[in-house]
Amino acid sequence: MEADRRSLSSEERADALEESMMRRLDQTAPAQTRGVRRGTGVLFGGLTPGGLPLTLGALAPMPPKPTIVDFFKLRLMPHTVTHMLQSANDAQKKGEPEETVLACLLHDIAVNLIKVDHGWWAAQMVEPYVPEKVSWAIRYHQALRFFPDPAVGYGYPERYVQIFGDGYVPEPYIKAAYEKARKHKWYMEARMITVHDLYAFEPGVKVTLDPFIDVIGRHFRQPKEGLGFDASPVAHMWRSLIYPDNPL
Ligand SMILES: [Fe+2]
Ligand SMILES: [Fe+2]
Repeated sequence: MEADRRSLSSEERADALEESMMRRLDQTAPAQTRGVRRGTGVLFGGLTPGGLPLTLGALAPMPPKPTIVDFFKLRLMPHTVTHMLQSANDAQKKGEPEETVLACLLHDIAVNLIKVDHGWWAAQMVEPYVPEKVSWAIRYHQALRFFPDPAVGYGYPERYVQIFGDGYVPEPYIKAAYEKARKHKWYMEARMITVHDLYAFEPGVKVTLDPFIDVIGRHFRQPKEGLGFDASPVAHMWRSLIYPDNPL
């Protein structure tokens, strides 16, 4: 009994100490000077994949049953949306099948949440809602980006020289993923994401989500409860985008 009381009070003391330390941290570190790790997604104050800081604005409330289109309009950072629309537009213009267009439209969706291993994260986020081939392609596009395939006109991206530096050697797990994908029957599905993964806009061409609404409707199984609330194994990822500032 006595021992119980002592251990309870020491727990309480620890809690109080932690709380006061956190309060002190709050006072000494103004929000704008707090460090944010590079891997943190752009919606959480991290840098863009190219290393640029973004100004965080107030977030619009989400509807109670959010659709993938709501996430494009209300949560994904504009530069990510622009990049994915541009990739999907390129794929559509070149007559790719709708599933490839959808893969291009969603391929970098995870960098809003977290940047490192964004192919794996994005694939997991969409896996319950898209054809298996689409999430497979999204998972492997990340590794394939580092490895040229002259047969389809894909070279090592100039942008990767800017991001990773000259002579960069990808981590062994990236190389292993590439080698696995290279031998897979769906290799071309992932490869075509890299082929359409463009960073330069045609001047004056503004791509919107409109041409892709039907593609989404045909190939993205929108849960009736809304993304984030369907109790799927990845619902928490969507909720993290809905409520990025919730304290716990
Ligand atoms: Fe990517
Ligand atoms: Fe991309």
